[in-house]
Amino acid sequence: MSSKSEFDSADGVFGGPPESPDGREALYAAPAEEAVDELERVSGTHPGYRRAHARGFCCRASFLPSGKAAPFTTAPHLQEQEVKAIVRFSGSSTDPALADLLSPAKGMAVQFLLPDGGRSSLVGVTVPVFFARTPESFMEMLMTLNRTKSGRMPKAEALRRFARHFGESRQSLLALKRLKPPASYATNLYYCIHVYFLVDEEGRRRPVKFEWIPDSGVQTLSIHDAAAMPDDYLERELESRLREQPPSFKLNIVFGEEGDPTDDPTKRWPSDRRRIDAGRLVLLEPVAEPHGLIMDPTSVTDGIALSDDPILNFRRDTYAESLKRRSGGH
Ligand code: HEM
Repeated sequence: MSSKSEFDSADGVFGGPPESPDGREALYAAPAEEAVDELERVSGTHPGYRRAHARGFCCRASFLPSGKAAPFTTAPHLQEQEVKAIVRFSGSSTDPALADLLSPAKGMAVQFLLPDGGRSSLVGVTVPVFFARTPESFMEMLMTLNRTKSGRMPKAEALRRFARHFGESRQSLLALKRLKPPASYATNLYYCIHVYFLVDEEGRRRPVKFEWIPDSGVQTLSIHDAAAMPDDYLERELESRLREQPPSFKLNIVFGEEGDPTDDPTKRWPSDRRRIDAGRLVLLEPVAEPHGLIMDPTSVTDGIALSDDPILNFRRDTYAESLKRRSGGH
């Protein structure tokens, strides 16, 4: 029986996966434009804003590496010299007007400004795993959500589709459910989710994940207290915190072992994996967002290599497409 339905081609935007002769869905690459179109359907188009994590707050920062990662990578910011950085905190919503309380996951994107003028990015969120394993499942889940909301897909069909992805989404949904409203952008643990490889001077590659640990500890609010806060309480709180004492984060590097998946953003590694403290990021002061700033997680310096995680690699073109639209005033 075909898995295609009238809903797949309802607006001609996305035809749904073609079927292979053995009846299983064939893989195809969902182009970046389609992904950004679909993100725009979540809450409409907000000219000039990012198509996800629309509202954010930028700070100037400084990163002092501990030197402990230096034996494993030639990346300049992970040696011993202090480097400058730009950090952008954000709420995950596509709607820049949504209250902080209502967008559960928060983002922390860091761009290290390297001594040779290059840049290297690390993008984290407050949940340790993503809800989709591939761009294809990301697209199917997002389309299903949008079409159900707009009444173009019956709930039963939507449930059938979500059920197909429940195995891969489960951990992420549980993590989202457990999230409490943060007391501050500076009191969250941020996970960079994807696997990267550290590359040393001899070209040896070691799989790693990155995490930012807040020096002030994780602090949350009760729903009751958060509901009494202004819609943009996280920006206001960070502004006043920056005036008092610069908040800081430790960068943890977690080393994978034989058998740990390197291409699946829906899976965590066992908690006993070796971790090193690679350095400390200190937030210094708020800054206006630099023109054309893009926090592309595939933009990394020599000494760090991308894994073959399909979601990580798909993000490059979607972020560029979002930048193109928002900087064109759309
Ligand atoms: C299919 C997967 C994904 C798609 C299509 C997607 C799409 C996007 C888009 C279009 C933007 C706006 C980019 C810009 O205009 O500069 C964005 C921002 C962001 N995304 Fe994703 N994303 C995906 C996966 C993830 C994952 C796995 C994470 C977890 C680390 C993540 C965290 C963020 C954050 C923190 C931002 C804000 C970056 C900033 O402050 O500039 N995204 N995403």
